[in-house]
Amino acid sequence: MTITATASAELMELEDRYNAHNYHPLPVVLSRGEGVFVWDVEDKRYYDFLSAYSAVNQGHCHPRIIRALTEQAQKLTLTSRAFYNNLLGPYAEFITQYFGYDRVLPMNTGVEGGETAIKLARHWAYRVKGVPENKAKIVFVEGNFWGRTLAAISASTDPTSYKDFGPFMPGYEIIPYNDLPALEKAFQDPNVAAFMFEPIQGEAGVVVPDDNYIPGVRALCSEYNVLMIADEVQTGIARTGRLLCCDHFDVKPDILVLGKALSGGVFPVSAVLASDEVMLTVKPGEHGSTFGGNPLACAVAMEALKVVTDERLAENAEKLGQIFRKRMEALVQKRPDLLVLVRGKGLLNAVVINDTEDSKTAWNICLELAENGLLAKPTHGNIIRFAPPLVMTEAQLDDCCSIIERVLTGFGR
Ligand SMILES: Cc1ncc(COP(=O)(O)O)c(C=O)c1O
Repeated sequence: MTITATASAELMELEDRYNAHNYHPLPVVLSRGEGVFVWDVEDKRYYDFLSAYSAVNQGHCHPRIIRALTEQAQKLTLTSRAFYNNLLGPYAEFITQYFGYDRVLPMNTGVEGGETAIKLARHWAYRVKGVPENKAKIVFVEGNFWGRTLAAISASTDPTSYKDFGPFMPGYEIIPYNDLPALEKAFQDPNVAAFMFEPIQGEAGVVVPDDNYIPGVRALCSEYNVLMIADEVQTGIARTGRLLCCDHFDVKPDILVLGKALSGGVFPVSAVLASDEVMLTVKPGEHGSTFGGNPLACAVAMEALKVVTDERLAENAEKLGQIFRKRMEALVQKRPDLLVLVRGKGLLNAVVINDTEDSKTAWNICLELAENGLLAKPTHGNIIRFAPPLVMTEAQLDDCCSIIERVLTGFGR
Protein backbone atom coordinates (compact mmCIF):
# COMPACT_ATOMS: atom_id res chain seq x y z
CA MET A 1 0.00 0.00 0.00
CA THR A 2 1.23 3.52 -0.75
CA ILE A 3 0.97 5.92 2.12
CA THR A 4 -0.26 9.25 0.86
CA ALA A 5 -1.49 10.71 4.14
CA THR A 6 0.72 13.49 5.39
CA ALA A 7 -1.36 15.52 7.80
CA SER A 8 -1.16 14.65 11.50
CA ALA A 9 -4.80 13.58 11.77
CA GLU A 10 -4.54 11.07 8.93
CA LEU A 11 -1.27 9.63 10.20
CA MET A 12 -2.63 9.20 13.72
CA GLU A 13 -5.69 7.49 12.32
CA LEU A 14 -3.53 5.14 10.29
CA GLU A 15 -1.45 4.19 13.32
CA ASP A 16 -4.56 3.76 15.39
CA ARG A 17 -6.12 1.53 12.75
CA TYR A 18 -3.19 -0.82 12.08
CA ASN A 19 -0.86 -0.64 15.07
CA ALA A 20 -1.27 -2.41 18.40
CA HIS A 21 -2.75 -0.12 21.03
CA ASN A 22 0.07 -0.60 23.54
CA TYR A 23 0.84 3.13 23.80
CA HIS A 24 -1.21 6.26 24.30
CA PRO A 25 0.88 8.98 22.62
CA LEU A 26 0.34 12.70 22.82
CA PRO A 27 -1.38 13.79 19.57
CA VAL A 28 1.73 15.07 17.79
CA VAL A 29 3.23 13.43 14.69
CA LEU A 30 6.94 14.08 14.45
CA SER A 31 8.95 13.80 11.29
CA ARG A 32 12.25 15.58 11.94
CA GLY A 33 14.64 16.29 14.79
CA GLU A 34 17.78 18.34 15.31
CA GLY A 35 19.49 19.00 18.63
CA VAL A 36 16.88 19.97 21.23
CA PHE A 37 14.14 20.42 18.63
CA VAL A 38 11.65 18.19 16.84
CA TRP A 39 9.20 19.18 14.10
CA ASP A 40 5.80 17.73 13.32
CA VAL A 41 4.50 16.93 9.85
CA GLU A 42 2.93 20.39 9.64
CA ASP A 43 6.40 21.81 10.37
CA LYS A 44 5.57 23.11 13.84
CA ARG A 45 8.71 23.19 15.99
CA TYR A 46 8.81 21.90 19.57
CA TYR A 47 11.39 21.69 22.32
CA ASP A 48 11.74 18.00 23.16
CA PHE A 49 11.48 17.62 26.93
CA LEU A 50 11.36 13.84 26.94
CA SER A 51 14.42 13.00 24.81
CA ALA A 52 12.90 9.61 23.98
CA TYR A 53 12.98 8.67 27.67
CA SER A 54 16.57 9.93 27.96
CA ALA A 55 17.89 8.11 24.89
CA VAL A 56 18.62 11.32 23.00
CA ASN A 57 20.94 12.92 25.57
CA GLN A 58 23.29 14.04 22.79
CA GLY A 59 20.43 15.75 20.91
CA HIS A 60 18.47 14.58 17.89
CA CYS A 61 20.54 13.43 14.91
CA HIS A 62 23.85 14.56 16.35
CA PRO A 63 26.01 15.10 13.23
CA ARG A 64 29.01 13.21 14.61
CA ILE A 65 26.91 10.20 15.63
CA ILE A 66 25.02 10.17 12.34
CA ARG A 67 28.33 10.34 10.48
CA ALA A 68 29.67 7.37 12.45
CA LEU A 69 26.43 5.51 11.69
CA THR A 70 26.34 6.20 7.96
CA GLU A 71 30.05 5.64 7.38
CA GLN A 72 29.98 2.30 9.19
CA ALA A 73 26.67 1.32 7.57
CA GLN A 74 28.39 1.40 4.20
CA LYS A 75 31.17 -0.92 5.33
CA LEU A 76 29.74 -3.62 7.59
CA THR A 77 26.62 -3.74 9.77
CA LEU A 78 26.34 -7.23 11.20
CA THR A 79 28.49 -10.31 11.39
CA SER A 80 26.83 -12.00 14.39
CA ARG A 81 29.23 -13.20 17.06
CA ALA A 82 29.95 -16.34 15.07
CA PHE A 83 32.93 -14.37 13.75
CA TYR A 84 35.12 -11.59 15.12
CA ASN A 85 34.52 -8.12 13.75
CA ASN A 86 37.08 -5.35 13.54
CA LEU A 87 35.24 -2.95 15.90
CA LEU A 88 34.11 -5.06 18.86
CA GLY A 89 37.61 -5.30 20.34
CA PRO A 90 38.32 -1.55 20.11
CA TYR A 91 34.81 -0.79 21.42
CA ALA A 92 35.17 -3.19 24.35
CA GLU A 93 38.51 -1.62 25.25
CA PHE A 94 37.05 1.87 24.89
CA ILE A 95 33.88 1.38 26.92
CA THR A 96 35.52 -0.59 29.75
CA GLN A 97 38.15 2.13 30.14
CA TYR A 98 35.51 4.86 29.84
CA PHE A 99 33.50 3.46 32.75
CA GLY A 100 36.31 1.71 34.64
CA TYR A 101 35.32 -1.97 34.41
CA ASP A 102 37.22 -5.13 33.40
CA ARG A 103 34.73 -6.36 30.80
CA VAL A 104 31.61 -5.56 28.82
CA LEU A 105 28.81 -7.74 27.51
CA PRO A 106 27.10 -5.97 24.60
CA MET A 107 23.35 -6.27 24.07
CA ASN A 108 20.72 -4.15 22.32
CA THR A 109 17.78 -2.93 24.38
CA GLY A 110 17.83 -1.78 27.98
CA VAL A 111 15.68 -4.67 29.13
CA GLU A 112 18.13 -7.15 27.62
CA GLY A 113 20.84 -5.40 29.62
CA GLY A 114 18.86 -5.90 32.83
CA GLU A 115 18.13 -9.51 31.98
CA THR A 116 21.81 -10.11 31.23
CA ALA A 117 22.79 -8.57 34.57
CA ILE A 118 20.46 -10.96 36.39
CA LYS A 119 21.74 -13.96 34.47
CA LEU A 120 25.31 -12.95 35.32
CA ALA A 121 24.36 -12.56 38.99
CA ARG A 122 22.75 -16.01 39.07
CA HIS A 123 25.81 -17.57 37.41
CA TRP A 124 28.07 -15.81 39.89
CA ALA A 125 25.89 -16.98 42.79
CA TYR A 126 26.18 -20.63 41.75
CA ARG A 127 29.74 -20.63 40.46
CA VAL A 128 31.48 -18.22 42.85
CA LYS A 129 29.36 -17.52 45.93
CA GLY A 130 28.26 -21.14 46.35
CA VAL A 131 24.48 -20.72 46.41
CA PRO A 132 22.71 -24.11 46.00
CA GLU A 133 21.31 -24.78 42.51
CA ASN A 134 18.10 -22.86 41.66
CA LYS A 135 18.06 -21.09 45.02
CA ALA A 136 19.56 -17.74 43.94
CA LYS A 137 17.48 -14.74 44.83
CA ILE A 138 17.49 -11.25 43.32
CA VAL A 139 16.21 -8.34 45.42
CA PHE A 140 14.36 -5.45 43.75
CA VAL A 141 12.56 -2.38 45.05
CA GLU A 142 8.98 -1.21 44.80
CA GLY A 143 8.35 1.15 41.90
CA ASN A 144 11.21 -0.26 39.80
CA PHE A 145 10.97 -0.22 36.02
CA TRP A 146 13.41 -2.00 33.78
CA GLY A 147 11.39 -2.94 30.73
CA ARG A 148 8.65 -5.17 29.42
CA THR A 149 9.92 -8.75 29.19
CA LEU A 150 8.49 -11.37 31.51
CA ALA A 151 11.62 -11.26 33.68
CA ALA A 152 11.23 -7.49 34.01
CA ILE A 153 7.51 -7.34 34.72
CA SER A 154 7.92 -10.15 37.26
CA ALA A 155 9.80 -7.56 39.33
CA SER A 156 7.21 -4.85 38.78
CA THR A 157 4.85 -3.49 41.43
CA ASP A 158 2.77 -1.61 38.84
CA PRO A 159 -0.36 -3.61 37.95
CA THR A 160 -0.51 -1.95 34.52
CA SER A 161 2.80 -3.66 33.76
CA TYR A 162 2.14 -7.12 35.17
CA LYS A 163 -1.60 -7.75 35.39
CA ASP A 164 -2.80 -10.73 33.31
CA PHE A 165 0.71 -11.55 32.10
CA GLY A 166 1.49 -14.22 34.72
CA PRO A 167 2.83 -16.67 35.73
CA PHE A 168 5.92 -14.80 36.82
CA MET A 169 9.62 -15.43 37.36
CA PRO A 170 10.49 -17.04 40.70
CA GLY A 171 13.50 -16.10 42.82
CA TYR A 172 12.64 -12.44 43.27
CA GLU A 173 12.06 -10.44 46.44
CA ILE A 174 10.66 -6.92 46.37
CA ILE A 175 11.33 -4.49 49.20
CA PRO A 176 10.55 -0.77 49.67
CA TYR A 177 12.79 1.76 47.87
CA ASN A 178 15.06 4.06 49.84
CA ASP A 179 14.90 1.74 52.84
CA LEU A 180 18.30 0.48 54.02
CA PRO A 181 16.97 -1.49 57.02
CA ALA A 182 14.65 -3.42 54.65
CA LEU A 183 17.65 -4.13 52.42
CA GLU A 184 19.73 -5.40 55.32
CA LYS A 185 16.84 -7.60 56.41
CA ALA A 186 16.55 -9.09 52.89
CA PHE A 187 20.30 -9.77 52.89
CA GLN A 188 19.97 -12.09 55.90
CA ASP A 189 19.12 -14.79 53.35
CA PRO A 190 22.51 -16.21 52.27
CA ASN A 191 21.08 -17.11 48.85
CA VAL A 192 20.70 -13.48 47.77
CA ALA A 193 22.83 -13.06 44.65
CA ALA A 194 22.16 -9.43 43.79
CA PHE A 195 20.29 -6.24 44.48
CA MET A 196 19.14 -4.49 41.31
CA PHE A 197 17.85 -0.92 41.43
CA GLU A 198 17.74 2.46 39.67
CA PRO A 199 19.76 5.20 41.43
CA ILE A 200 16.82 7.49 40.60
CA GLN A 201 13.54 5.82 39.65
CA GLY A 202 12.71 7.30 36.25
CA GLU A 203 9.41 5.73 35.22
CA ALA A 204 8.10 5.81 38.79
CA GLY A 205 8.17 9.60 38.47
CA VAL A 206 11.82 10.64 38.98
CA VAL A 207 11.91 9.41 42.58
CA VAL A 208 15.19 10.52 44.17
CA PRO A 209 16.39 8.53 47.21
CA ASP A 210 18.01 10.09 50.28
CA ASP A 211 21.69 11.01 49.94
CA ASN A 212 22.78 8.16 52.21
CA TYR A 213 20.91 5.50 50.20
CA ILE A 214 23.33 4.73 47.38
CA PRO A 215 26.43 4.69 49.65
CA GLY A 216 24.38 2.59 52.09
CA VAL A 217 23.46 0.11 49.34
CA ARG A 218 27.13 -0.18 48.40
CA ALA A 219 28.17 -0.83 52.00
CA LEU A 220 25.50 -3.48 52.59
CA CYS A 221 26.22 -5.27 49.28
CA SER A 222 29.90 -5.45 50.20
CA GLU A 223 29.19 -6.57 53.77
CA TYR A 224 26.84 -9.39 52.72
CA ASN A 225 28.67 -10.45 49.54
CA VAL A 226 25.75 -9.48 47.30
CA LEU A 227 26.26 -7.99 43.83
CA MET A 228 25.14 -4.39 43.50
CA ILE A 229 23.49 -3.99 40.08
CA ALA A 230 22.85 -0.38 39.10
CA ASP A 231 20.32 0.02 36.31
CA GLU A 232 21.60 3.28 34.84
CA VAL A 233 19.75 2.81 31.54
CA GLN A 234 17.89 6.07 32.14
CA THR A 235 20.08 7.85 34.71
CA GLY A 236 23.42 7.09 33.06
CA ILE A 237 25.45 8.85 30.39
CA ALA A 238 25.41 12.37 31.85
CA ARG A 239 21.64 12.66 32.38
CA THR A 240 21.81 13.47 36.10
CA GLY A 241 24.79 15.82 35.93
CA ARG A 242 27.51 13.17 36.30
CA LEU A 243 28.53 10.48 33.85
CA LEU A 244 26.67 8.01 36.08
CA CYS A 245 24.19 8.82 38.80
CA CYS A 246 26.25 6.65 41.21
CA ASP A 247 29.20 9.01 40.56
CA HIS A 248 27.43 11.66 42.67
CA PHE A 249 28.33 9.46 45.63
CA ASP A 250 31.65 8.00 44.40
CA VAL A 251 30.01 4.59 44.40
CA LYS A 252 31.00 1.86 41.94
CA PRO A 253 28.35 -0.82 41.33
CA ASP A 254 29.50 -4.41 40.73
CA ILE A 255 27.35 -4.62 37.61
CA LEU A 256 26.42 -1.56 35.57
CA VAL A 257 23.60 -1.65 33.02
CA LEU A 258 23.52 0.99 30.28
CA GLY A 259 21.30 1.53 27.23
CA LYS A 260 19.33 4.36 25.67
CA ALA A 261 21.85 7.23 25.24
CA LEU A 262 24.68 4.75 24.67
CA SER A 263 23.75 5.13 20.99
CA GLY A 264 22.58 8.75 21.24
CA GLY A 265 19.11 7.43 20.41
CA VAL A 266 20.15 6.24 16.97
CA PHE A 267 19.17 2.59 17.50
CA PRO A 268 19.12 0.12 20.41
CA VAL A 269 22.54 -0.40 21.97
CA SER A 270 22.93 -1.61 25.56
CA ALA A 271 25.84 -2.85 27.60
CA VAL A 272 26.52 -4.64 30.85
CA LEU A 273 29.82 -3.89 32.56
CA ALA A 274 31.37 -5.95 35.34
CA SER A 275 34.57 -7.40 36.80
CA ASP A 276 36.43 -10.46 35.51
CA GLU A 277 35.11 -12.41 38.50
CA VAL A 278 31.50 -11.84 37.47
CA MET A 279 31.80 -11.72 33.70
CA LEU A 280 34.02 -14.75 33.25
CA THR A 281 31.41 -17.00 34.85
CA VAL A 282 29.76 -16.99 31.41
CA LYS A 283 31.24 -19.45 28.94
CA PRO A 284 30.74 -19.69 25.17
CA GLY A 285 27.18 -20.59 24.25
CA GLU A 286 25.70 -19.68 27.64
CA HIS A 287 24.40 -16.23 26.65
CA GLY A 288 24.23 -14.17 23.48
CA SER A 289 22.40 -12.06 20.95
CA THR A 290 22.49 -11.98 17.15
CA PHE A 291 22.81 -8.20 17.08
CA GLY A 292 24.75 -7.62 20.32
CA GLY A 293 28.20 -6.17 19.63
CA ASN A 294 27.51 -5.55 15.94
CA PRO A 295 30.02 -3.24 14.23
CA LEU A 296 27.41 -0.56 13.58
CA ALA A 297 26.56 -0.42 17.29
CA CYS A 298 30.27 -0.35 18.22
CA ALA A 299 30.97 2.60 15.90
CA VAL A 300 27.88 4.50 17.04
CA ALA A 301 28.37 3.90 20.77
CA MET A 302 32.02 4.95 20.70
CA GLU A 303 31.13 8.21 18.96
CA ALA A 304 28.11 8.79 21.20
CA LEU A 305 30.29 8.49 24.32
CA LYS A 306 33.01 10.71 22.84
CA VAL A 307 30.37 13.38 22.20
CA VAL A 308 29.35 13.20 25.87
CA THR A 309 32.93 13.95 26.92
CA ASP A 310 33.82 16.47 24.21
CA GLU A 311 30.67 18.53 24.71
CA ARG A 312 30.86 18.33 28.51
CA LEU A 313 27.26 17.15 28.67
CA ALA A 314 27.41 16.08 32.32
CA GLU A 315 28.60 19.54 33.36
CA ASN A 316 25.89 21.16 31.24
CA ALA A 317 23.19 18.92 32.71
CA GLU A 318 24.36 19.79 36.23
CA LYS A 319 24.36 23.54 35.54
CA LEU A 320 21.05 23.67 33.66
CA GLY A 321 19.40 21.33 36.15
CA GLN A 322 20.11 23.75 38.99
CA ILE A 323 18.59 26.61 37.00
CA PHE A 324 15.55 24.55 36.00
CA ARG A 325 14.72 23.40 39.53
CA LYS A 326 15.14 26.91 40.92
CA ARG A 327 12.68 28.31 38.37
CA MET A 328 10.22 25.48 38.95
CA GLU A 329 10.48 25.82 42.75
CA ALA A 330 9.48 29.46 42.41
CA LEU A 331 6.55 28.36 40.26
CA VAL A 332 5.47 25.81 42.89
CA GLN A 333 5.43 28.65 45.44
CA LYS A 334 3.29 30.68 43.06
CA ARG A 335 0.71 27.95 42.37
CA PRO A 336 0.46 25.63 45.39
CA ASP A 337 -3.12 24.85 44.35
CA LEU A 338 -1.77 23.19 41.17
CA LEU A 339 1.80 22.11 41.97
CA VAL A 340 3.28 20.12 44.85
CA LEU A 341 7.00 20.01 44.19
CA VAL A 342 9.83 19.66 41.72
CA ARG A 343 12.48 16.97 42.16
CA GLY A 344 15.39 15.51 40.25
CA LYS A 345 19.08 15.68 39.53
CA GLY A 346 20.82 17.24 36.54
CA LEU A 347 18.36 17.28 33.67
CA LEU A 348 16.21 14.41 34.94
CA ASN A 349 13.42 16.21 36.74
CA ALA A 350 9.73 15.93 37.46
CA VAL A 351 7.02 18.25 38.64
CA VAL A 352 4.36 16.68 40.86
CA ILE A 353 0.85 18.00 40.28
CA ASN A 354 -1.58 18.58 43.10
CA ASP A 355 -4.09 15.97 41.96
CA THR A 356 -4.75 12.24 42.19
CA GLU A 357 -2.65 9.68 40.33
CA ASP A 358 -5.59 8.68 38.15
CA SER A 359 -6.47 12.27 37.21
CA LYS A 360 -6.03 13.74 33.73
CA THR A 361 -4.39 16.94 34.96
CA ALA A 362 -0.81 16.10 33.95
CA TRP A 363 -2.03 14.94 30.55
CA ASN A 364 -4.01 18.14 30.00
CA ILE A 365 -1.02 20.26 31.02
CA CYS A 366 1.15 18.35 28.53
CA LEU A 367 -1.39 19.07 25.79
CA GLU A 368 -1.17 22.79 26.57
CA LEU A 369 2.62 22.64 26.70
CA ALA A 370 2.60 21.00 23.26
CA GLU A 371 0.37 23.74 21.90
CA ASN A 372 2.97 26.17 23.21
CA GLY A 373 5.84 24.34 21.53
CA LEU A 374 7.20 22.09 24.29
CA LEU A 375 6.81 18.30 24.44
CA ALA A 376 6.73 16.54 27.78
CA LYS A 377 4.97 13.38 28.91
CA PRO A 378 3.25 12.45 32.16
CA THR A 379 4.73 9.44 33.96
CA HIS A 380 1.53 9.13 36.00
CA GLY A 381 -1.69 11.13 36.03
CA ASN A 382 -0.09 13.62 38.39
CA ILE A 383 3.61 13.67 37.50
CA ILE A 384 5.31 15.29 34.50
CA ARG A 385 8.89 14.37 33.68
CA PHE A 386 11.10 17.10 32.23
CA ALA A 387 14.20 15.67 30.56
CA PRO A 388 15.46 17.66 27.55
CA PRO A 389 18.50 16.70 25.47
CA LEU A 390 21.69 17.64 27.34
CA VAL A 391 22.97 19.78 24.45
CA MET A 392 20.51 22.50 25.43
CA THR A 393 21.94 26.00 25.87
CA GLU A 394 21.17 28.25 28.82
CA ALA A 395 19.22 30.62 26.54
CA GLN A 396 17.10 27.73 25.26
CA LEU A 397 16.45 26.53 28.80
CA ASP A 398 15.41 30.05 29.74
CA ASP A 399 12.95 30.04 26.84
CA CYS A 400 11.59 26.63 27.92
CA CYS A 401 11.17 27.69 31.55
CA SER A 402 9.21 30.70 30.32
CA ILE A 403 6.88 28.44 28.31
CA ILE A 404 6.32 26.12 31.29
CA GLU A 405 5.78 29.09 33.62
CA ARG A 406 3.30 30.67 31.25
CA VAL A 407 1.29 27.46 30.79
CA LEU A 408 1.31 26.46 34.45
CA THR A 409 0.54 29.93 35.74
CA GLY A 410 -2.53 30.17 33.52
CA PHE A 411 -3.61 26.50 33.68
CA GLY A 412 -7.23 26.02 34.78
CA ARG A 413 -7.82 29.74 35.32
C1 LIG B 1 15.73 2.32 34.17
C2 LIG B 1 15.33 1.59 32.94
N1 LIG B 1 15.83 0.36 32.72
C3 LIG B 1 15.52 -0.34 31.62
C4 LIG B 1 14.66 0.17 30.67
C5 LIG B 1 14.29 -0.65 29.46
O1 LIG B 1 14.90 -0.17 28.31
P1 LIG B 1 14.34 -0.61 26.87
O2 LIG B 1 13.02 0.03 26.70
O3 LIG B 1 15.40 -0.13 25.92
O4 LIG B 1 14.25 -2.10 26.89
C6 LIG B 1 14.12 1.45 30.85
C7 LIG B 1 13.20 2.03 29.86
O5 LIG B 1 12.55 3.03 30.05
C8 LIG B 1 14.47 2.17 32.02
O6 LIG B 1 13.98 3.39 32.24
